[in-house]
Amino acid sequence: MNMLKGTLFASAALGLAAATPAAAQTAEVLHYWTSGGEAAAVASLREAFEAAGGTWIDSPIAGGGGDAQATVLRSRVLAGDPPTAVQIKGPNIQDWAEAGSLANLDEVAAQEHWDDILPPLLRDIVTYEDHYVAVPVNIHRVNWMWINPELLAQVDAEVPTTWEEFNEVATRLQDAGITPLAHGGQPWQDATVFETVVLGIGGPDFYRAALVDLDPDALTSDTMIEVFDQMRTLRGFVDDNFPGRDWNLATRMVMNGEAAFQIMGDWAKGEFAAAGLEPGTDYVCAPTPGASGYILNSDSFAFFNVEGEDRIAGQNLLASLILGPEFQETFNLLKGSIPARNDIDMSGFDACAQQSAEDLAAAVADDSLVPSMAHEIAIPRAPRGAFLDVVTEHFNSDMSSEEAVERLLEEVELAQ
Ligand code: BGC
Repeated sequence: MNMLKGTLFASAALGLAAATPAAAQTAEVLHYWTSGGEAAAVASLREAFEAAGGTWIDSPIAGGGGDAQATVLRSRVLAGDPPTAVQIKGPNIQDWAEAGSLANLDEVAAQEHWDDILPPLLRDIVTYEDHYVAVPVNIHRVNWMWINPELLAQVDAEVPTTWEEFNEVATRLQDAGITPLAHGGQPWQDATVFETVVLGIGGPDFYRAALVDLDPDALTSDTMIEVFDQMRTLRGFVDDNFPGRDWNLATRMVMNGEAAFQIMGDWAKGEFAAAGLEPGTDYVCAPTPGASGYILNSDSFAFFNVEGEDRIAGQNLLASLILGPEFQETFNLLKGSIPARNDIDMSGFDACAQQSAEDLAAAVADDSLVPSMAHEIAIPRAPRGAFLDVVTEHFNSDMSSEEAVERLLEEVELAQ
């Protein structure tokens, strides 16, 4: 009966819409959020958009870290068929803005007071020549470990806080027949682990010199040799099936007790959340070992210059929804990140998100906040590609650390 009523209502509404057409709002959204937690998060955006009357055309391109999506985006733009909205970030936003491809969002930014609610570190990422050209949706922290507490307890170990301790605990796990590190051998995942080792061993100033300023002395320093030594040690802690494994399958190994640790950004928390698991009891989050600091990653949506009133209206609707306070809470709880706005009460968030927010504030205060190289916040795609190549090649061969730093210098210089 209710269903019938619903159907009648729906057709009445449709009839009305046909008589007095409201301005349609359409968005084709290109993204790479296809894992369990990611899909739940993007579905919440789609629901909010549809509830506000929008028509959502979903264009997911599978592939963690977004490298596959970047290729599709470039060919779509070259073919003169850009998507309405696309999830991009960091220097890519600046590059597309410089190419004149992005819509100006100043009007919606003024209506929604983005100047007041966005932290300056995000404002810098999403503005080009003082105009808003993208809208940030979250803040992800890269330097996290995700830990299976039962496996640690089996070898009577505490959460390690230095790389020496990590190696010691991992060796104990291995001796007990437990895989210490769940890892997926894909270049962006290798680079994710690498940058946490750079921060942990070198500290924030070294991180900036090497991964942001691309300083040749830092790239070939003894500290960088130590970083590659630690990468070689980590290679010894992964299982035989790691090549090509998707990051979310590595997270699942920690959930299922098949491995003790994963080093991954807090989108991994979205996977634990989607499986109904709670931090502190079912799993533990802890910053990666060594020097403290916060490796920042942030997802944004940019809107390509498109034609058609419905598509422009769709862009405006999406842009204003993304930073809405309620949506920020719903989305970020599902995604594993923390809000992009600086005025959201964190009491509804879990302990890992609360720690992320506190550690972010501390890192801003003591200047230990650094942008992610692996996740395209720090440097453009070409030098990032040089890091990914060398780090992956080193991880998958018997290349010495000395040779790795020489190769790094050559490739990074070539890419600039
Ligand atoms: C993105 C996250 C995404 C992760 C895995 C990161 O680069 O910022 O939103 O969940 O890659 O796909």
